[in-house]
Amino acid sequence: MVAIAILAAGRGTRMKSDLPKVCHQLGALSLVERVLNSCLLIQPLRRLIIVGYEAQRVKTSLQGYRDLEFVEQTEQLGTGHAVQQLLPKLEGFTGDLLVLNGDVPLLRPDTIKKLLEYHQAHQNAATLLTAHLPNPQGYGRVFCDGNNLLTQIVEERDCTAAQKKNRRINAGVYCFNWSKLAAVLPKLQNNNDQKEYYLTDTVKALDPVMAVDVGDYQEILGINDRKQLAKAYEILQERVKDAWMKAGVTLINPDSITIEDTVQLQPDVIIEPQTHLRGKTLIGSGCRIGPGSLVENSQLEKNVTVLYSVVSDSVVKDGTRVGPYAHLRGQTVVGESCRVGNFVELKKAKIGDRTNVAHLSYIGDATLGNQVNIGAGTITANYDGVNKHPTQIGDRTKTGSNSVLVAPITLGKDVNIAAGSIVTEDVPDDCLVIARSRQIVKPGWRLKSQEKSD
Ligand code: UD1
Ligand code: CA
Repeated sequence: MVAIAILAAGRGTRMKSDLPKVCHQLGALSLVERVLNSCLLIQPLRRLIIVGYEAQRVKTSLQGYRDLEFVEQTEQLGTGHAVQQLLPKLEGFTGDLLVLNGDVPLLRPDTIKKLLEYHQAHQNAATLLTAHLPNPQGYGRVFCDGNNLLTQIVEERDCTAAQKKNRRINAGVYCFNWSKLAAVLPKLQNNNDQKEYYLTDTVKALDPVMAVDVGDYQEILGINDRKQLAKAYEILQERVKDAWMKAGVTLINPDSITIEDTVQLQPDVIIEPQTHLRGKTLIGSGCRIGPGSLVENSQLEKNVTVLYSVVSDSVVKDGTRVGPYAHLRGQTVVGESCRVGNFVELKKAKIGDRTNVAHLSYIGDATLGNQVNIGAGTITANYDGVNKHPTQIGDRTKTGSNSVLVAPITLGKDVNIAAGSIVTEDVPDDCLVIARSRQIVKPGWRLKSQEKSD
């Protein structure tokens, strides 16, 4: 039987932020969400989140997670004090308690699983995760006796100069035998530099306590300030990009590319420099994205190219070329082998196959058939100041340059709209529409007007 507790009550003073530290985003997820996800291989009986500073905000940010129990720590008197708040909640619980600091976002699920297995195999009173850091500054130092049993953890600010030289640090991730921990928790003292009740002090009163070293020390980096947040982002990005390159994706100048860990890519995708892929994005094989593009929450099927463009919440089908400088948004769906480019905005547009919207257009709330050609500068006037209205355009219809389609409006199939037209009424199939004033030419006009003024 296992319960999980995540410590998320602190403000995170060193972040210099109104937002509680654990709510800061690291890519697509917040710090505390990442800590929760690092426990995915454990099947806990209960998941408890200790909240305090801006408790409601932390709770709201975790609304999407089921079966979490929130425990309030109204005053933040230290990590030990935080875990003391569990005493009434976990009365009668007899299993192990996995405790994780809410600011350690890079842990791998496998690491947590192994820690718990080790703890249970040795029937320890406590087992904690440790690492040997090249630069241990800021972390609690872990001390063991000759039999590799843990004797004490000393916070850096309480360390002597000699103790500071120890580079084995406490990751802030622990397994406790709950009954044994519960017996010592009430006895914690706050006689340290910060006058806080330290969870780490419980190890002195517990026996046996062992430490497990993590293989990759980057996993246990704790986030206390913005610089560490940026560093963690870098590490996360490196992990994600390495994995995609291994899976057959080409990244050109990977340092200039960011890919959130919610993105899925197929082999033989090519990502060019300065490109950012976010959210629930899926990109099919043969696609070439970038340079200079942002794709979020979108699905690009196969062999799509996106050049210097922004695609959000949209679907683009096989072989379509997007850009340069296009903006697709609001549940737009573009069919196969289309061309969308050069300062074109598509909003909530459904576009058939082999249709082109190639230059300087706004197409919003519109449904276009197959092989439509939208002339340069065509605009759907979809908004009357109060409501949005739809536009429908049939197969093979062509709009002339600078036409305005005043919605709601339906153009049939094989319609031709003359350049510069303002179309306000529906048009049946096979028509030519000229909706502009006729050109008037007055020969010799300049000479005549000069005669008048003389
Ligand atoms: C803690 C450990 C340190 C370890 C480091 C690893 C203690 C005393 N020290 O130090 O040994 O090396 O983590 O990252 O535990 N929190 C509460 N309530 C409180 C105080 C803190 O919920 O009253 C939460 C914070 O929100 C945070 C976590 O506990 O998520 C850790 O607190 P923090 O102040 O960052 O501890 P460190 O000084 O980093
Ligand atoms: Ca910390």
